[in-house]
Amino acid sequence: MRQILNEQSIRLGTCYYPEHWDKSLWREDLTRMLAAGIEVIRIAEFAWNKIEPAEGEFTYTFYDEFLDMCEETGMQVIFCTPTATPPAWLTEKYPEVLNAEIDGTLLRHGARRHYNYNSPVYREKSRIITEKSASHYAGRSCIIGWQLDNELNCETSEFYSDADHKAFRAYVQKKYGTPDALNEAWGTVFWNQTYNDWSQVYGPRHTVHDTQNPHMMLDYIRFISDSCISFASEQAEIIRKYAKEGDFITTNGMFGNLDNHALNRKVLDFYTYDSYPNFAYTLDGYQETDFMKDRWWSKNLTLVRSISPSFGIMEQQSGANGWTTRMDAPSPRPGQMRLWTMQSIAHGADFVSYFRWRTATIGTEIYWHGILDYSGRDNERLEMVKGIYADLQHMKEIAGAVYDAKIGIIRDYDNVYDTSIDIWHGKIERISDNALFTALQKSHTPFDYVDLNDEGFSTDVSSYRLLFYPHPCIMDQARAEHLKKYVEQGGCLVLGCRSAYKDMNGRCVRENLPGLLADLSGADVKEFTLLPPDEQDITVQTGEGSLPAKGFADRLSAEGEGSILGTYANTYFAGDGAIVEHKVGEGKVYYYATAFSEEAVGFFTERENVKDPYGEILKLPADCELAVRKKGDTSYIFILNYAGEERRVTFFKPVYDLLEEKTVAGELVLPAYGVEICRIV
Ligand code: GAL
Repeated sequence: MRQILNEQSIRLGTCYYPEHWDKSLWREDLTRMLAAGIEVIRIAEFAWNKIEPAEGEFTYTFYDEFLDMCEETGMQVIFCTPTATPPAWLTEKYPEVLNAEIDGTLLRHGARRHYNYNSPVYREKSRIITEKSASHYAGRSCIIGWQLDNELNCETSEFYSDADHKAFRAYVQKKYGTPDALNEAWGTVFWNQTYNDWSQVYGPRHTVHDTQNPHMMLDYIRFISDSCISFASEQAEIIRKYAKEGDFITTNGMFGNLDNHALNRKVLDFYTYDSYPNFAYTLDGYQETDFMKDRWWSKNLTLVRSISPSFGIMEQQSGANGWTTRMDAPSPRPGQMRLWTMQSIAHGADFVSYFRWRTATIGTEIYWHGILDYSGRDNERLEMVKGIYADLQHMKEIAGAVYDAKIGIIRDYDNVYDTSIDIWHGKIERISDNALFTALQKSHTPFDYVDLNDEGFSTDVSSYRLLFYPHPCIMDQARAEHLKKYVEQGGCLVLGCRSAYKDMNGRCVRENLPGLLADLSGADVKEFTLLPPDEQDITVQTGEGSLPAKGFADRLSAEGEGSILGTYANTYFAGDGAIVEHKVGEGKVYYYATAFSEEAVGFFTERENVKDPYGEILKLPADCELAVRKKGDTSYIFILNYAGEERRVTFFKPVYDLLEEKTVAGELVLPAYGVEICRIV
C-alpha cells in the first residue's frame, strides 16, 4: 500500500534540507515535526555534492547518518534525484551540459536548472547519480517514494544549447524522413526558408525580431516536451530496479512546454504539485481589484487533477514568499495557510507537504519563508500546522474521494502550445480561460479540465453534461471523431470562435471553416475579424438577452440542421449569426462565434441547466468557493472563504459538519479565511 494517497487518511509533510543545518539540529527538528503532525519529509533535491563531491567519487555517509535518525524517530522520507542542480565540478569540466540563451550564450553555474536535457554527458552523469543513489538508499525502511529532479521545466522551459539543436534535428529527421517532407510540413517555401540538407535545420535561433517559423515552433515545443519526458523516464527506470514494493515515483510542479499528462502516464505513479497561492499578493503584481486573487490556484489544482486524478502537494505555501532578486509578498494572514491547505485538499490532494520546515538563512531564498523563521523557535505558523493536523483527524473518511463535476473544459497540448506561438490565438484563449474559470467559480459550478489527444479523452467524458472546448484552432480527424462520439451519445459541446482553422502543423486549412468541425457544428464561418480596439461594445443578441462579444468575431450562417440562436446586434455585421445550435444524435453542439465572457458562460450553463448544481442544498456568496469530493454515494462539501471578513452561508438542508462533529442547518457564519467541511446527509 502507498504510504501517501492511501485512501485511509490525509497526511502532512514538509521539505527539509539537512545540508543547510548543523547536524545537532536534525533530531530535534524531526521530533518537533512529528509532534506537530508532519510525518513525511522530502529531501536531497539539490544536494548532488553530498553524494558525489567530485567526479566518480561517491560517499553515502551524510544521508546514511540522516536516514538513520529518520528511522529512529519514525519519520518517512521522499528521496530526490539531485539533477536540478548539477555541481560545479561537472559544469566546469563539461560546459556542453549547460543550457543556453537563444543566441547561444551559455547559462552558467550559479543559479539552478542550468542544464539541458539532451547533452549525452549530462544524461550519463544523471543516470550514474540516480543509479548510485537508488542502489544505495532505496532499501532504507524510512524511504517511501522518490521525486525525480525538481520542477521540470521551471525557471526556463526553453533550450538552445548545441546538444538541443542537434537533438532537435534528429527529432524532425525521424518525424519527417526527408527534408522535402519537412519543408512541406513547415511551409518553408514562405520567405525562402527551404532546407536541402539536414545540417541546415536548427531549433529557434536569434533572428530578425526573433521571428520564427510558427510550424517549426510547434515541433520545437513538442520536442522539448519529449526531451523532458525521456530524461525523467531514464531516471524512473533506474529507480524502479531498486525501489521497494509500494514505493512511488513522482515529480513536482507543473510547468510549460511539457505534456504533463504524458509525463504522468508514461513515467510517474502520480503527480505532485507545488501550490503557492500567496503569489497573488506579490507586491509587484498585486491588484486590489482582482476578484480571484489566491483563488486562482484552484485553476491550477483543477489542471493537476486532470493530469493525475489522485495527487499530492509537494510544496504548499506556509510563509511569505520572495527571493533576494525577485518576488516580494507579505506573510499569509492568520488562517490563510489553513485555507490554502484545504483548497488543495478540496481539489483532491490527499498529501500536503509544506515548503519548508525552517526558512533558509543563506542563499537566494532567504525570504521564501517556511513554517519556522530563522531562529527556529515555536511560532504562529507551527501552531497552524498543529491545528490543521487536528482538522485532518476529523476528515479521514474523505481520503480517496474524488472531485465531482458535471462540466468539463477540454484542453489539448497542441492548442496550448500554439497559444504561446500565435498571438491571435493566445489572446482569445486567455480571455475565454479567465471568463470560464471566473464564471464557474462565482456561480459555484464545479468543473474539470479534460485532455484530448488522438487516442481520446483523458477520462470518461460520458458523465459530463456539458463540455466547453473554447478555441480548438488546431484540429485533426481523430479528435473530431472523439468529439462527435461524445455528442452523438448525448453530450453537449460548446465550441468558441476560430475552431478548426489549422491543421496539426499549424497551417491554415483551405476548407470552409470550421474545417473538420463544420459538419458537427452546423455552422459556416463566412467572414471573421479581430474585434477592433475602437469597438469594444459589440454584443450578441439572444432570445434571453444580450452577451458581450470578446476579442474576435466569426460571422456565422447555419448549415443543414443548424439553427441561429443569436446574432450580432451592432457594428457593420449586425444581423450575422453569432450562435449556432445543432442537434446531433442524442446530443447537441453550440458554436459560439466569439471568445467567452462570464455572461456567455452563464448563458450556456443556464440553458443546459448545469449551473450551481448544489443550489438546492446551500447558498453562499460569490467570493466563497464551493468544491465537492465524492466517495461512493457520499458527497463532501468544502466551502472556502477567501475574503478577509466573515461570510454567511445558508444551508437549506441539514449537513454534517465534520470538523465540529455535529449536524448543522440554516445560517452559518464563516470567519475570515475560514473553511467549512461537511458531509451531505
Ligand atoms: C519552488 C521550488 C523550491 C523553492 C520554492 C521557492 O518552485 O521547487 O525549491 O525554490 O519554489 O522559490
